[in-house]
Amino acid sequence: MAKIVVLDPLAENGLKMMEDAGMEYDVRTGLKGEELRQALTEYDGAICRSGVKITAESLEGNTTLKAIARAGVGVDNIDLAVAKKHNIVVMNTPAGNTVSTAELTFALMLAVSRNIAAAHQSLVEGRWERKELGKTSYQLGGKTLGVVGTGRVGAKVVKFAQAFDMDVIAYDPTLSEKHAKEMGVKKVETVAEMLPMIDYLTVHTPLTNETRNLISDKEIDLMKKGAILVNCARGGIYDLDALQRGLESGKLGGVAMDVYPEEPCTDLPLFKMDHVVCTPHLGASAVEAQVNVALEAVEIMIEYLKTGVARNQCNK
Ligand SMILES: NC(=O)c1ccc[n+]([C@@H]2O[C@H](COP(=O)([O-])OP(=O)(O)OC[C@H]3O[C@@H](n4cnc5c(N)ncnc54)[C@H](O)[C@@H]3O)[C@@H](O)[C@H]2O)c1
Repeated sequence: MAKIVVLDPLAENGLKMMEDAGMEYDVRTGLKGEELRQALTEYDGAICRSGVKITAESLEGNTTLKAIARAGVGVDNIDLAVAKKHNIVVMNTPAGNTVSTAELTFALMLAVSRNIAAAHQSLVEGRWERKELGKTSYQLGGKTLGVVGTGRVGAKVVKFAQAFDMDVIAYDPTLSEKHAKEMGVKKVETVAEMLPMIDYLTVHTPLTNETRNLISDKEIDLMKKGAILVNCARGGIYDLDALQRGLESGKLGGVAMDVYPEEPCTDLPLFKMDHVVCTPHLGASAVEAQVNVALEAVEIMIEYLKTGVARNQCNK
């Protein structure tokens, strides 16, 4: 019988689903190095989130593992090419945390625009700074949001923005004129084209060679004074040093981020700056989203091991 190893904490419902399906599984979290390599040779399937790093070394000499299912979207913690060489199918569960991530994007946009974190902190410290905080507090309604990447999360963010009476300008190389019309967004041909027109920018792309440092000094120069930047996609899409310079010069009105080039990340100079609101990669960390992705990961793993059909394969 096929055996599955769970390498990162997984919602209980997912574990129960494996039991109900009669699958044999072990939960072995926190593995790395030789211990991880050895463990992976003992199973047919591995289910993970973003914690464990499945590198070329982790898969060295592996002839037993058939599939890896990532409960979540990003597969940057798995060496896809090496997995392919070993005939290991890598699958992800992209839809389960779309709503929670789009909601966090909006929560951060609102928090940074209305000084929510700073206002709360000032009350905690015993101050009533109603006048001061109001001076740099801005509404979203009537503003223009730039959305880079109109896939699952980006498209949901567009809907939320429209409910907030924002105009949306979008860039995605796969976005057709027809789809842009249906979504009610103005489509542009490059990111640079939208920058002078927008008050807020949010990115919802993977981190690729094209999107790494997509927004740096040159791009910030093109933006309106006071523009607010949000990143709930992947660390590295914004050049953090450029953001810091943009805030220091007053060109940027605020920055909100959930993701960082290196994670965990607790000591970024940006964290201590005014008009910055950051969270520790919480986009997918909503109870409902974790249940969704756990159930989907188990479902696609069982399906693959039983039928050989790979859903959402990332390393074709
Ligand atoms: N913060 C979190 O916890 C969290 C949770 C879920 C997803 N994410 C991240 O959010 C991002 C979006 O996720 P998704 O589910 O919407 O993915 P998706 O695949 O549905 O959408 C990504 C979109 O980006 C577009 N794209 C790719 N390269 C581009 C480029 N150079 N310029 C503009 N657009 C480009 C693609 O065409 C696609 O439409 C991913 O990076 C994902 O890892 C983060």
